[in-house]
Amino acid sequence: RQSSCDGGGGHMAEIRSVGVVGGGQMGSGIAQLAAVNGLEVWLHDSDPTALSKAHQSISSTIQSLVSKGRLTKVLFVPVLADPLDFLTDNFLTKEKGAEAVRMLKYTSSLEDFGSVDIVIEAIVESEEVKKKLFTLLDSIVKESAILASNTSSISITRLASATSRPTQVIGMHFMNPPPIMKLVEIIRGANTSEDTFNATKCLAERLGKKIVCSQDFSGFIINRILMPMINEAFHALYTGVATKEDIDAGMKLGTNHPMGPLELADHIGLDVCLSIMKVLHAGLGDSKYAPCPLLVQYVDAGRLGRKKELDDIEAMSFISLN
Ligand code: NAI
Repeated sequence: RQSSCDGGGGHMAEIRSVGVVGGGQMGSGIAQLAAVNGLEVWLHDSDPTALSKAHQSISSTIQSLVSKGRLTKVLFVPVLADPLDFLTDNFLTKEKGAEAVRMLKYTSSLEDFGSVDIVIEAIVESEEVKKKLFTLLDSIVKESAILASNTSSISITRLASATSRPTQVIGMHFMNPPPIMKLVEIIRGANTSEDTFNATKCLAERLGKKIVCSQDFSGFIINRILMPMINEAFHALYTGVATKEDIDAGMKLGTNHPMGPLELADHIGLDVCLSIMKVLHAGLGDSKYAPCPLLVQYVDAGRLGRKKELDDIEAMSFISLN
């Protein structure tokens, strides 16, 4: 498909400001990424503690990026990526860092999103909660604004149906952590327009990402393939095939994955993994997607993984693949 990022038409030249909803591990990373790339950003979280934590961690991360002269932190370079890709010439100068901090505003009120060109939603992986938010956003943002979801698995077409602008709703699925991982998976809903697709693609490219495109079926490309593997790793542990150490070491050393599936689940968040498996199971209607009982039990017990212990994006930079 042809698209141009030079302002040749549609929304393309217009995306200068971004509203991010959800200041958790994904939303903070997306907000930081957009701000260091010169966009005006509003970040909202309904939980004031999460919002102030996001504020603190993004500010200190930008500060340390400036002192190290990098656009992203490189604490661990994924085996599958070209290390040189991360060592960009576009260093974050003191001035650019200060500009990024100035461009990023934190708000407890969605009403501040009235003038943004695009909203990227990164809240809890629940269709019901996301739909309510999309209906609300639809009534707040300007007519031309795009509503994008960072959902891992939920139908974009159904999220779009909660709004009056289904042609302007799209999936923009960043990988974890957004400032480091190179990919954005773009998902067209059944009614997503070509203008919306082109504007979203241009935005992803402006943020330094490569894109892949998926049709709107549960889990899209990445999680359709990744999550059943993680779920199977839980089954292997559950049925006593091997220890967690051997399962992870086997997949790392035997298949060249930078991180074992159980370690990766720990970083993504077991609650997120379970939500995605439920969406795959319900949406694709095959028992092979049923969540492993051990995964369900861990989430029931509140054992959600390392993500709940993360204090800042620096810690997240150890994550290598999602
Ligand atoms: P998280 O649990 O770290 O953060 C979610 C944030 O959303 C929390 O701070 C929460 O207070 C806030 N929130 C919840 N409901 C809200 C509402 N109605 N309005 C405003 N804020 C609200 O979750 P995480 O991991 O950042 O995931 C967010 C989304 O990104 C999910 O849809 C997830 O599937 C997707 N995703 C997650 C990845 C991962 O590795 N964790 C990777 C790619 C996508």
